[in-house]
Amino acid sequence: MSRDGGITLCAAGLKAMFVTEAGFLKAVEGVDITIRKGECAALVGESGCGKSVTGLALMRLLQTPPALYTAQKILFFDGERATDLQTATEAEMLNVRGRKISMIFQDPSAALNPVMTVGRQIDEIIIRHYGLNKKEARSRTVGLLRSVGVPDPERRYFSFPHEMSGGLKQRVLIAIATACRPALMIADEPTTALDVTIQAQILRLLRDLQRENNMALLLITHDLGVVSHMADSVYVMYLGKIMEEGTTAEIIGAPLHPYTQGLIKAVPSLDDDSAVPLQQIPHNVPNPMKKPSGCSFHPRCAFCTGLCRAKMPPLIEYGGGRKVRCWRYIPDSSANGGGDD
Ligand SMILES: Nc1ncnc2c1ncn2[C@@H]1O[C@H](COP(=O)(O)OP(=O)(O)OP(=O)(O)O)[C@@H](O)[C@H]1O
Ligand SMILES: [Mg+2]
Repeated sequence: MSRDGGITLCAAGLKAMFVTEAGFLKAVEGVDITIRKGECAALVGESGCGKSVTGLALMRLLQTPPALYTAQKILFFDGERATDLQTATEAEMLNVRGRKISMIFQDPSAALNPVMTVGRQIDEIIIRHYGLNKKEARSRTVGLLRSVGVPDPERRYFSFPHEMSGGLKQRVLIAIATACRPALMIADEPTTALDVTIQAQILRLLRDLQRENNMALLLITHDLGVVSHMADSVYVMYLGKIMEEGTTAEIIGAPLHPYTQGLIKAVPSLDDDSAVPLQQIPHNVPNPMKKPSGCSFHPRCAFCTGLCRAKMPPLIEYGGGRKVRCWRYIPDSSANGGGDD
């Protein structure tokens, strides 16, 4: 944990929408995210809330069209140098992606080339970024495979993806993502496709690599159990907006927003009082094309008032860097004319 460390990424006002046949779909609506060096920040929320789109937009990896996206800034700090990813040229982005910021996607099978051995796939990245010759690259690849816990790496170097289990493939992707010692890794649901015991191993590996390399990690997940084990800080996202942010201890230990409270009550392992039955948040996440009026969470919220139905609350400072977007925490909110768009 290094909340005092330098900032690695500072994005402000990130917005992303899709042009669909049915109209505009606003997937991300003005998100601010700051990730510090050596810190794991988690982005959590239910399916369809805009987590993956946020990760892809930060890396400028959304296909335009159908996506349209903007930000006030996406500052990436690498040593003394700051690059605004929002205005960087595509050539600069090619240097940033993979080398300085890497991304791990949810489905390991789709992210690997099926007709190339995993060794060659890693070699190519090392050769491209470091200019090593084939022999040097191979020796570094074998070392990388070993460092991510691939057994018998000299032999596995020659394996094709289909010859590997899901857990091994995810280790290969982590090897690829760490090959260039990036300052930031964005890991989108890195263990969702894996079974529970393998999930724990992969998460431990990610945490160890993050600490060893003092890397910043943006962990995208819907699993608050994973968050409580891995993250230093948490952003809770709902229908394209951040509803609450703070340290993991604050968010898990004393959640403020009714949405965060609902997410936590729905997780078995976080509820240590077995007499309290698990509770699901009522109803499903609404269609983002038909967002409710006012606070988009209001139809599912037990504390909903007329104001909540009428106006989206702003994300306010709650103290100590903690933020929440809920009228319950805004003094005199019954008389409040202000709100978010
Ligand atoms: N290429 C696309 N075209 C149109 N809509 C899209 C596209 N990609 C994502 N969306 C929509 O944007 C919204 C946010 O999607 P996103 O994938 O970010 O959700 P998520 O929070 O990552 O969900 P999950 O937990 O299921 O991965 C969803 O309504 C989704 O349908
Ligand atoms: Mg996703």
